[in-house]
Amino acid sequence: MDNQVSTSRIQKDMEMFEGFTSTPGQGITRLPFTIEVRKCVNLLAKRMKSAGLAVREDSAGNLIGRLEGRNPDAPALVIGSHFDSVRFGGNFDGMAGIIVGIEIARMLRDAAVTLRNPIEIMGTHDEEGMRFGTGFFGTKAMMGEVDGDYLHRFKDADGVSIYDAMICYGLDPVRIKEAARDYKKEIAAFLEVHIEQGPVLGNSGLNLGLVNCIVGMQRYIVTVTGRPDHAGTTPMDMRIDAMDCASKIISQVSDWAKQAGGNGTVATVGYAQVMPNAMNIIAQEVSFSVDVRSKDQASIDYIVGKMHAELERVCGEKGARFTVSEKLRVPPADLDEKLLAMLAQSCDKLGLSYMRLPSGAGHDSLQTAPKIDTVMVFVPSKNGRSHSPAEWSEYSDLANAACVLYDTLLTNFQ
Ligand code: GLV
Ligand code: MN
Ligand code: MN
Repeated sequence: MDNQVSTSRIQKDMEMFEGFTSTPGQGITRLPFTIEVRKCVNLLAKRMKSAGLAVREDSAGNLIGRLEGRNPDAPALVIGSHFDSVRFGGNFDGMAGIIVGIEIARMLRDAAVTLRNPIEIMGTHDEEGMRFGTGFFGTKAMMGEVDGDYLHRFKDADGVSIYDAMICYGLDPVRIKEAARDYKKEIAAFLEVHIEQGPVLGNSGLNLGLVNCIVGMQRYIVTVTGRPDHAGTTPMDMRIDAMDCASKIISQVSDWAKQAGGNGTVATVGYAQVMPNAMNIIAQEVSFSVDVRSKDQASIDYIVGKMHAELERVCGEKGARFTVSEKLRVPPADLDEKLLAMLAQSCDKLGLSYMRLPSGAGHDSLQTAPKIDTVMVFVPSKNGRSHSPAEWSEYSDLANAACVLYDTLLTNFQ
């Protein structure tokens, strides 16, 4: 390839971040507003600076490294992904996109190329929603969608709000609106490289994926409340058993997803908590998550409608109470056709094979796509594994993604 991508530079950078986890030996656990994130961000800032970028942290804790273009007033091309992780995740989810962005900045510097537009390499904060149950915090803040009420509304399992977590982390929550960009004026495009996290691209044997749409997502925490009583002495017809009610709902969630049909429709109960969680006490309270995704908003609405109707019916019959707390709602998004065509042209030029494919995972790009021209490039995930310590992608595939994006920048924005 006639550019100066360095696979070993990418590998070295990726490996530097493996240690920033609160679960050493059990994958990456880098939850937002923690010491692990702070250390990761500090090192990222150093790597960005040594690539020649001017680095700043915004008031949401996003990290932004900027390389000026010939016209400093032109809107920036933002290349971003997230630096937080799930619990017991892998080293590639999110970080791969930031490191590829830094590599592109180094390639521009090494080739002494100044683009027409500035570029910004962005590490976003709390994309996963693992700690506070929501998600896309950094990009939401960038888009002006986070206010003080939001910071107080979402709390972690210990009852710590985003507001308080920001203070402990060294950010001033009162200044959250300063993270909002005047994106129509300031941002020309949002470009995200990410691992596929599934098996489709890997099984195809193709080099890269060009993502044409991302599923919409809605997330809920459902709490069913019954009455704690003795498990041995309370007759079956005199119980208000929160577990009995909750399990009748939980067992139907995947059926509703199948009934809703294709279009990438999935629904998952991945979290559950029982009170008092004892063998000989009838459950007083069961809380569980419902994560619903589809390319088709009507399918999401179908599943959420079923969830509400069945909660009414089942809890009504048994005399239990329930609450449903919505944690996230983002509609499905199409990515930008113009940028997809540019990337396809670059792949052809570089002799890299590709397929267009949808994303079933949520990404920062889902948050930006309705308002900023947005595109994603997927690199294959080994055995389709992700959100697991088994997550792996080849560094040479990350280098391929860097080359394609670099070529697209040079061809269209020079
Ligand atoms: C984030 O990775 C998600 O898709 O939940
Ligand atoms: Mn993830
Ligand atoms: Mn991710």
